[in-house]
Amino acid sequence: MITVVVYSESGGTFKTTTTANLAVSLVRMGLDVCVIDLDPQEGNLTSLFDVGEHRSDPEADNLVKHILEMPDGDFEDLVETSDEGVDVIPSHDMLGDFTSNLEQKIAYETGMKNMSKEEFPRFELLYDLLWNEQELHEDYDAVLIDPNARAEDLLYNSIYAMRTLVAPVKPAGKGNLSLDGLDELVGNMERKLDIEVGLSCVVPSGVGQTNAHQQYSKQFKNTDEFATPIAIPDRESLMDTMWEARGSAYKVLEERWKTFEEDGEMVSSPGERSVRDRELETLRDIHELGVFVATDTFDAQIDPELVLDIQGRGEERFDFRDVVETEVATQ
Ligand SMILES: Nc1ncnc2c1ncn2[C@@H]1O[C@H](COP(=O)(O)OP(=O)(O)O)[C@@H](O)[C@H]1O
Ligand SMILES: [Mg+2]
Repeated sequence: MITVVVYSESGGTFKTTTTANLAVSLVRMGLDVCVIDLDPQEGNLTSLFDVGEHRSDPEADNLVKHILEMPDGDFEDLVETSDEGVDVIPSHDMLGDFTSNLEQKIAYETGMKNMSKEEFPRFELLYDLLWNEQELHEDYDAVLIDPNARAEDLLYNSIYAMRTLVAPVKPAGKGNLSLDGLDELVGNMERKLDIEVGLSCVVPSGVGQTNAHQQYSKQFKNTDEFATPIAIPDRESLMDTMWEARGSAYKVLEERWKTFEEDGEMVSSPGERSVRDRELETLRDIHELGVFVATDTFDAQIDPELVLDIQGRGEERFDFRDVVETEVATQ
């Protein structure tokens, strides 16, 4: 079972983009994948995958009601499947009020049971829901969470439930390597939750061509403290177009989505993009990240070949048998 929270403290490290692409990579490997969107803000994974029609309807059943043990329907009915075959538990506005709702529940229940509020297992609710009640491991090979970094209760619930982090990090101003920050982060989580938290890998993101950035990337590659299977370069055109295509980078390239100006307005449509080698290379890297997480971190059985069917251009095949074998050999 693959269970991952894509998280790092720094903002804007392409977490949602990475989660979406990671999810699709796992689907492409033949796995059943569920992604949970815990970010109530606009421009989240729910909008990227074009689901969550009822996210602003306070009456609608949603994940918060289930986490707080006051569901308005079946858990299965929360799940929506994206075009690309990813099951998504969409975001809902109620996620923004999670902590105040949780406080009410804690006040009520600890009052009834005459226990102290500190004794209430506030970070274990999502774990109980997903694994004990819903037994998601029966339905899925992989569950990923895109958390909201600021909503601490939900973030801690996510980490308690998943136990493993994939951490996208951006080059700092001068291209310094901030290893300490990550170690400290994992250590704090472990102490706070009294569990072991694994760091699957670090993903340097938005790495440009400047010397500082290249230097930064090299530092990461050379460290033994954690794995850095790939780095994600600056690919604004490709990644921004995901939001127009309503899907992953796989979809953008296969359907050749492009955003361009027409009569003074920005429009997006499929069949227009000229697919560049460097974009295919990035997609290959994104897939390699998925292969690494699936096989090196979680020892999953996967289909090691990626076949892209690019509109008007034909098939591109990428073989990851080497990656899988190296991972197994170095274990
Ligand atoms: N590799 C990349 N290069 C350049 N821009 C990117 C890249 N990946 C994502 N973006 C863009 O950066 C913005 C923020 O990405 P997002 O994944 O929402 O970040 P986060 O979830 O960490 O806040 C989006 O507009 C997205 O299209
Ligand atoms: Mg995000």
